[in-house]
Amino acid sequence: MKILSIETSCDETSVAVVEKKENSTSVEVLSNITATSLDLHAKTGGIIPEFAAREQIKAIIPTIVKALNESASMDYESWENAQKILQVDVDAIAVTYGPGLIGSLLVGVETAKTLSLTFNKPLVPVNHLLGHIFANFIQDHSQDPKSKIKYPFVALIVSGGHTDLVYFESVDKYKWLGGTRDDAAGECFDKCARLLGYPYPGGPKIAELASFGNAKNVPLPKIMTGDDFDFSFSGLKTAFMNVVNKEFSVARKETENGYSWEKIDIENLPTQKKQLLFDLCASLQESIIEVLIRKTLKAAKFYNVNTILLGGGVSANQKLTEDLKEKIVKDKLPIEIFVPQKKYTMDNGAMIGAYALLSYKPVDWEKINATPDLYFA
Ligand code: KG4
Ligand code: ZN
Repeated sequence: MKILSIETSCDETSVAVVEKKENSTSVEVLSNITATSLDLHAKTGGIIPEFAAREQIKAIIPTIVKALNESASMDYESWENAQKILQVDVDAIAVTYGPGLIGSLLVGVETAKTLSLTFNKPLVPVNHLLGHIFANFIQDHSQDPKSKIKYPFVALIVSGGHTDLVYFESVDKYKWLGGTRDDAAGECFDKCARLLGYPYPGGPKIAELASFGNAKNVPLPKIMTGDDFDFSFSGLKTAFMNVVNKEFSVARKETENGYSWEKIDIENLPTQKKQLLFDLCASLQESIIEVLIRKTLKAAKFYNVNTILLGGGVSANQKLTEDLKEKIVKDKLPIEIFVPQKKYTMDNGAMIGAYALLSYKPVDWEKINATPDLYFA
């Protein structure tokens, strides 16, 4: 079965064509095209929902055309070819219907409904968060084919908007265990990076600066040491901000839509200050990772599972996966970790198609609505 899948929950417009062979448990990606509006967000000092949706309106049709053409290895990219491929090759359409920004979701959902009706294809609504987890089922030819994901498993979703722990018995039988009470893990990375003058997404920049630092030199608070499966990152962000305000002079600058901070000129900082900045970033990263690992392993032990799946943009953080694997080896835990291939950690159409293929439940197009506050229903 082949699915055309559309993801527009936040600032990206991503479209994929994915395929699952009859008895296979993994998903093959035939094309995955993402149009990003990152440059625009850098100008406006962050994602402005209205602006993001307007860019997506412009991007959605060309991205669909490109994804369909590429899936059939067409030399000549055209709407006519795309229509034929959709008509003949594609069995169904999948779309993210939530959670996310209302304007952005509407662009994807309404386009998918129109295509479903026009081309008479079944339509599968997909929860964005499930997409992040099931990105792990996308075939990775560089991996040992023997290493297969087994149910039950515990999943940690760590993205710019979400931090959730979920227990899965099967593809559509799951239980939400806990999540963040305030900022998401990625949001904490992003807000702290923004304070240093770095645009969204800030996680990779903090990780880069952290690689030169030593977390022990600037201790930040250890967070949410309680017994539950919840997280909180806003206090950590404040602690980070207090050190930045005390030790560095950060200047505010006007942007097209508010304000942002001038980039700290790291190269020209005195050596000691430069090291302090690296150490501070290492400490921030360490505090975030430490609580993610502790609560994820706690959930795995509590539910007696041998498999953990990570997903979402923050799962691209190398230190997170390295430290988690190290802890499992050190404590001799019988747990296997799965992380999506890096290109499928951030928002992408392929992960939405992957979940649609594995769970395949089409719904009448008239009953599908963009649902910004969708959760693990
Ligand atoms: O899943 P995603 O693309 O979007 C949401 O659904 O939110 O995740 C984006 C988030 C951003 O917060 C970004 O800073 C973070 O993922 N991120 C990282 C890394 N790469 C991306 N955070 C930490 N370390 C990274 N290497
Ligand atoms: Zn996401």
